Formats: sequence, structure tokens, C-alpha cells
Amino acid sequence: LSAPEPARSAPGAAPSAVPTPGPAPLRFPAGFGWGTSTSAYQVEGAVGADGRGESIWDRFCTVPGAVERGDSGEVACDQYRRFAEDAALMASLHLNAHRFSLAWPRIVPDGTGAVERRGLDHYDRVLDALLERGITPLVTLYHWDLPQPLQDRGGWRARDTAARFADYAAVCFDAFGDRVRDWVTVNEPWIAGVLGHQLGLHAPGEQDLAGSVRAMHHLLLGHGLAAAALRATGREDARAGIAYSLFPHTPASDDPADLAAAHASDGYVNRWFLDPVHGRGYPEDMRAHWERAAGPLDFVRAGDLEAIATGSDFIGVNYYTRRIVGAATGDGPWPWKVEPGRPGVPRTDLDWEIVPDDLTALLLRLHRDHPGVPLLVTENGAVFDDGPGADGAVHDARRTAFLHAHLAAVHRAIEGGAPVEGYFHWSLVDNFEWAMGYRPRFGLVHVDRATQRRTVKDSGHWYARAAASGAVPA
Ligand code: NOJ
Repeated sequence: LSAPEPARSAPGAAPSAVPTPGPAPLRFPAGFGWGTSTSAYQVEGAVGADGRGESIWDRFCTVPGAVERGDSGEVACDQYRRFAEDAALMASLHLNAHRFSLAWPRIVPDGTGAVERRGLDHYDRVLDALLERGITPLVTLYHWDLPQPLQDRGGWRARDTAARFADYAAVCFDAFGDRVRDWVTVNEPWIAGVLGHQLGLHAPGEQDLAGSVRAMHHLLLGHGLAAAALRATGREDARAGIAYSLFPHTPASDDPADLAAAHASDGYVNRWFLDPVHGRGYPEDMRAHWERAAGPLDFVRAGDLEAIATGSDFIGVNYYTRRIVGAATGDGPWPWKVEPGRPGVPRTDLDWEIVPDDLTALLLRLHRDHPGVPLLVTENGAVFDDGPGADGAVHDARRTAFLHAHLAAVHRAIEGGAPVEGYFHWSLVDNFEWAMGYRPRFGLVHVDRATQRRTVKDSGHWYARAAASGAVPA
């Protein structure tokens, strides 16, 4: 997306002395959050520091073949030690918001027992480093680094994990609630359920369809119990929400079978989470599907749905790309099939289709389906593998164009009435991209893996101008 040509005078008209102004920039509302997003295991490193316990990702990374090249988060971006430098970097980019996660194994190393004071002290320093620079924190409690001892007791497949999560959340609210208003309880429960428990591609590496449905339920229950603990603190303006991995669906064709398949898959990916958190219970179509494919949902107990609906103060939108879905042929367990991207649609270096219009449509849909609920774009970003050139700079024009197009898409949604409060770009720095290790680069800031040297990419400089002015070019 580039700025359109300024309007020209009509042919034959006398040249005007006053240059014709270009289109007005797209101005965002006052108070809009201009941020970046990270998570603990992906950036912190220092996995053995200050009494931190083992997480399921530490363990998973030791499994041969689980992560490309045998990469792990052991060093990552060394942000555990470099948080002040990185906070200064954010301030230099004029950011006024930042989303990051707390590592449960730093705070409650064995998942259930004693609280590690040094873990709390670390995040005290991180919060202060941000707040001193005018950067409002958005804090995620669970971004996939479950304490390994809890996994040894069944992990998210066990109901008890939801209660232990709420205990840990209460410790965090008590320690940081004076400085943190907004909390993302759980990051991407669908991805955690499907990649971690069904396909075995993420920690804990399980391949258990029924177990994945239980795990997703307990992640939602954990969210609800944590939200109740937040309410119990009495801080009236505190807010809890989930960051969902939301995929807009494009039916493969207008054929009614494809339309029905796309709706069904939307139930699997999106509605299964949004509906219960926003008080509608589990959607009937998907409930019937799960019962056929994975057995009875007997782990859903009386009162669970009320508990799950406790914290619906905002919707966190993680948006990267769309999902094209057609009717399934054959009799596998899924009544839909995911189709490859369409020719002619631009792609990132991970081959994900770039579809900014779908972000507008998604935000408007959330506004229509859940009126009055504030929306935060908790993640949006892209892999482009550009590194420093001969001049030392990183000329990642494609990321700048991606950012521009998606911010313009958010702006259109706001104009359409969607209450979007902020945008958190994934990510501040190139970091550990789970099973793909360090290969994909998502950062606005390049990280040299050998030296940890940070270089702001051209896209980062562009974002800084947007954040400073509160607007992007039309
Ligand atoms: C979703 C996840 O929350 C985050 O951890 C991941 O790195 C990005 N998307 C990019 O895949």
C-alpha cells in the first residue's frame, strides 16, 4: 500500500499556484494504544536464573526433531537481562503500550507451591522500566510456558490445572495490580489445544484428540477462574480478556456445501471460544461435532459455563491471515477441508496470505456479534526475512507495507464503529518462533543472534512516525 498520487489538475487547466494537498492522513482516536507484543519464553532466555522452574517448552525443546535445528528459548533475545535496553528502544519508537507475558515458572516454579520472590522482583523492574517511559503494560498470564511439574500431573487435560492457574493469577494481581489494569489471561487457547495436544507440534507434544478438547475447556475455565480472582481484588477498573487466534473464513466457493463447511470450521476455530466467554455457552453445532469426533464432553461440569463467562472485558484479536475452507470429501473426522491460498494474493516469507481487508471485516464482525465489548489487536505481524544490508540498515519495505495496510484496515473498522482501543505489533524483536526456532523473523527490530545487537528496521522507524503522530498516511 503506498500513498496515492495527489490529484492533478484537469488537462488544459491553468497550473495552480497552490499545490494540491494529498489526502489527509488516517488519524487514530486520542488515547489509541501503539504497541508491540512479545511473550516470555520467546524473548527472555535466562531459563535457569533466579529460581525459575522448568516449563513444558524447556522440556519440549530437548525432544529430538521437535524444534528446527534444535533451537530453544535458552538464550532467546536475552531480554531477562536486557529489559531496560528494550524498554528504552520502545520509548525511542514512541510506543505508548507494550504487551508481554509473565513466566509462570519464574513466579511459582513448581506450579503449585511456593512463590519465588526473585521472579516477582524481576517483573517489578520490568513494569517500572515501562511505566517510567510512559509505556502502558498489557500483561499476559499464560503464553504457553506451563510449569513442567503441572504437566507431569496431566497439564491442561487435568481440571486441577485451571485452579492452579487461578492461584498463580491471584499472586500476580496482588503483586502488580497497582500498576497493571488490563490482563490477558490466556493466549490463543485454540492453538494451545490443537498444536500442543492434538497435532503434537507444540509443547507438550501430545496427539490426543479427546485430550485436546478437555485441554481447551480447562484453558477457558482457567481464564474464568482467573477473571473471578481479578474481580475479587476489588480494583474496579481492572479488565480481563483472552487473546484469541482468530481466523476469518473464506468459503472455497458459493456452493452451499462450501458455505456450510466454512461456517462449521469457524465454529472450530473462533466460535468455540468467543461464544462461551461472552455468555452464549458452547455453540451447538460444534458441540455436536466434538461429541461425534472425540466423545462426550463429560468434563464440562455444572457452573463451568457461568465461570468461563466471568471475564469478557475485552476481546484480544491475534490476526495474521485468513483460512479458505471447502466441504470435505471422504469421511475423515472433519466436515471441512482447508484449501491453499489463492494465486495472485501476496504472501509473507512464511507463505501466509496477506489479507488486510479481512482484519477490517473481522473487527466489524466482533463488534456486531459482541456489541459494546472493547477490542484490542493483541497481535498482528508478518515474517519477512530481511537482514542488515551493506549500509547496516534493514530495508524491509514489505513489512512497512504490511503494517501500513493493516493499520489502515484497523482505521476502517474504527470508522465503521468497531471500538478498537489499540494495536500491538507482533513483534518488537526477532524472537523464538516455537517449533520453527529462530528462522522466521517477525521483529520491527532485527536481532543478531550471535551478538544480541538490536537494529531498528525501516518498518520500525515507519511505525515510530505513526505512533508519534497518531496517524498513518492515507
Ligand atoms: C501467535 C502467538 O501468540 C505467538 O507466540 C507467535 O509467535 C505468533 N502468533 C506468530 O506466529
